[in-house]
Amino acid sequence: MNKSIEVFAPATISNVGCGFDTIGFAINEPGDIVSLKLRNDKKVIIRKITGDGKVLPYDPKKNTATVGILELLKNYKDKSIGVDVTIKKKMPIGSGLGSSAASSVAAVYGLNKLLGEPFTEMQTLDFAIKGESIASGAIHADNVAPCLFGGFILIRDYNPIDLIKLPVPKNLYCAVVFPHIVIETKKARKLIKKQIPVPKARKHFGNVGALVNALYKNDIDLLGRTIHDEISEPARATLIPGFYDIKQTAIENGAYGCSISGSGPSIFAFAKSKAKAEQIGKAMQIVVKANGMKSNLFVSKINSVGPKVIK
Ligand code: HSE
Repeated sequence: MNKSIEVFAPATISNVGCGFDTIGFAINEPGDIVSLKLRNDKKVIIRKITGDGKVLPYDPKKNTATVGILELLKNYKDKSIGVDVTIKKKMPIGSGLGSSAASSVAAVYGLNKLLGEPFTEMQTLDFAIKGESIASGAIHADNVAPCLFGGFILIRDYNPIDLIKLPVPKNLYCAVVFPHIVIETKKARKLIKKQIPVPKARKHFGNVGALVNALYKNDIDLLGRTIHDEISEPARATLIPGFYDIKQTAIENGAYGCSISGSGPSIFAFAKSKAKAEQIGKAMQIVVKANGMKSNLFVSKINSVGPKVIK
């Protein structure tokens, strides 16, 4: 048995300001690449991981890609199936760009394709969420779902999971600056307060509703006004040196909203053109540098397709 496949899965921006654990979107780059080759001896073996700085585990029960695969195989009728796995990390780990989700999605999506798509998209979502949860220590789908389905996704409920695919505004660009520090999602989640006062919750509900409306109306000005976070940004901003200065720079340079991507340290800002997104991103990088950190800038349109089979 030597059926094989190679899949690219994109980076994602989760939370999107007001959507803690409930809103995320995919970008075109960066992303991860996972290659799979079927075996007929039940074994799931990670053959090689590159681009991870040797930090990711080869134990299939500890790696997000293979935990997703093991979940899928647990539910598959043919118990003799196994897989050789190669993971090419093309994006930074612990960056807030949904790196663990991308590996999990690429692996699960690829294996489902290799097996002739025995599982529905929603089943593969479930397997990939379980894979991702090994890294983040929690079940949340605001990286996995947009990575798998592309575009903007709203997670209305987790129990059972209920997703809504939202429209993607034309000419919406995203600048993402990744300062070279690591924030572990598991630790960053512990900083989130368990309760939110009613005045803050009221502001939050208003922004979530308006964000959805902005996407439907293709209204990037309104979208920008909704990028306001009462839950995760105040709790996590101190993890990123100079965060509020970086954000202010983005806004002063014409960004339509700016906030932490996922649990950080990446910071995203919206713009109406690629050139503007590049200019905003470069201005943000100057402030990141002034705060003692190197950084990468990614400028991308919103990715509406999700994973792609490379070969
Ligand atoms: N919504 C999750 C969080 C995303 O903010 O913890 C983690 O990348």
